[in-house]
Amino acid sequence: MNMRYLEISLQSNEILAQKLYLQFYFPAMQLSKLIQQMMKEPSPIRQIMKMASKQNIINMGLDPDEVISYGGGWVGHHAPEGLRKKYEEICKDRESFHDAGKYSPTLGFEECREAIAKMEKELFGVKLSIENIIIGQSSTQLTHDLFIALANPDDTILLFDPTYANYPGQIKMALRNAKIVRQRVLDVETWGYKSQEEMAEDFKEIYEKEKPKIVMFPSPDNPSSQVFGDEFVKTMADICYENGSFLIIDYAYKTQCFIKPPNYFSWNPSDYPNVIAMHSNSKWCRGLGRRLGWVDANEEIIEAMERVQQCSILCPDTLHQFAMAEYINEALKDGSLKKYLEDVKEAYKKAADETIKAINDLLEMPCLIPQGGLYTLMKVGEDADEFVRKVLKNTGVLFIPGRGFGESLREAVRISYGPHVENLEIIRKGFERVANYLRKA
Ligand SMILES: Cc1ncc(COP(=O)(O)O)c(C=O)c1O
Repeated sequence: MNMRYLEISLQSNEILAQKLYLQFYFPAMQLSKLIQQMMKEPSPIRQIMKMASKQNIINMGLDPDEVISYGGGWVGHHAPEGLRKKYEEICKDRESFHDAGKYSPTLGFEECREAIAKMEKELFGVKLSIENIIIGQSSTQLTHDLFIALANPDDTILLFDPTYANYPGQIKMALRNAKIVRQRVLDVETWGYKSQEEMAEDFKEIYEKEKPKIVMFPSPDNPSSQVFGDEFVKTMADICYENGSFLIIDYAYKTQCFIKPPNYFSWNPSDYPNVIAMHSNSKWCRGLGRRLGWVDANEEIIEAMERVQQCSILCPDTLHQFAMAEYINEALKDGSLKKYLEDVKEAYKKAADETIKAINDLLEMPCLIPQGGLYTLMKVGEDADEFVRKVLKNTGVLFIPGRGFGESLREAVRISYGPHVENLEIIRKGFERVANYLRKA
């Protein structure tokens, strides 16, 4: 008998035996009620990604190598060469590598927080001292910790519809039964975002009724790639300030803003002590898997976050902070950071233009013109879950159904050009396949 096969069979038998043992000796063993409930409601995006798994694609009779995916919420550009070299230098030297294995302070190293403050000042005019900054493992972890630091389980949180699909699950995980209310920002009839005045009026009305403790949104947005205007954001910040609520702006795509950046991109914690800026290393320097993020906010919030982070992750990653601090200091001095970010932004703008052109030429379905970020939303005019399934099965092209981002996207799909930024010709190819199929269907 094949030894590898024997090994696997023995392992599976062992797992089965363990399961039986547990069931026999711990018949009442149960996972937490929270997680049991959450596992029954898996994220719709994860479900579709599972559907697009290699095995499932083969089961559908398709060739996995031929699949064109507009599903990925990630960036495809390369990290700055200078940053890669910093990792190389640290890893090459025995003592530097040894040093990079030590614990970081919970707030992050002062050198790295100073470098972030310098970067924010130079790129966006934000005035920060290191007391305004906490570094964490990622913006996902920092968001979880912020919910714990700012809200109670009986509070209300206001999110937009549509918005980033992970927020509702994160709120449930951190705050259990906190109430989530949604403000519709997309006009599904005209397939355009509402005017700033209309959004501000809607916000006032919902705020008055629901008194949310936290309002959170990304700008540029995921999934719509829209950038919220100054007038609307200022209205929210003022109302939240007057009533003791927090406004969290998620800046995951801040450096990929194609339009003139709004003024609030430059706000300091002293302008609005209740406004919190959430940052991630994932998208600007292609650090998705080199997990690092930071928050800037007033000192009181940073101190609270330090206490939460002591319990959640103890401290952020040392190697990433060393490499980042050294790279930023150097690249700010020689101007290469600004140049890198300009080039990257231009590349995503090109990918966005290519995507919109292909949709207009080939599918003629309503879609949003990206103002930043990696995505557009296309109205398909039928149940999007079904549309995504049939398009994948018949063409090998993957879109993300909109439902996971909010009810307003039941008949829409999110299309991501992010992964294709260095391979633009693939963008049109996928839409050609879909157009051919829909013409025949
Ligand atoms: C709006 C938004 N916030 C946060 C994240 C996650 O960021 P991180 O990788 O830092 O956890 C994403 C990832 O796609 C995102 O789109």
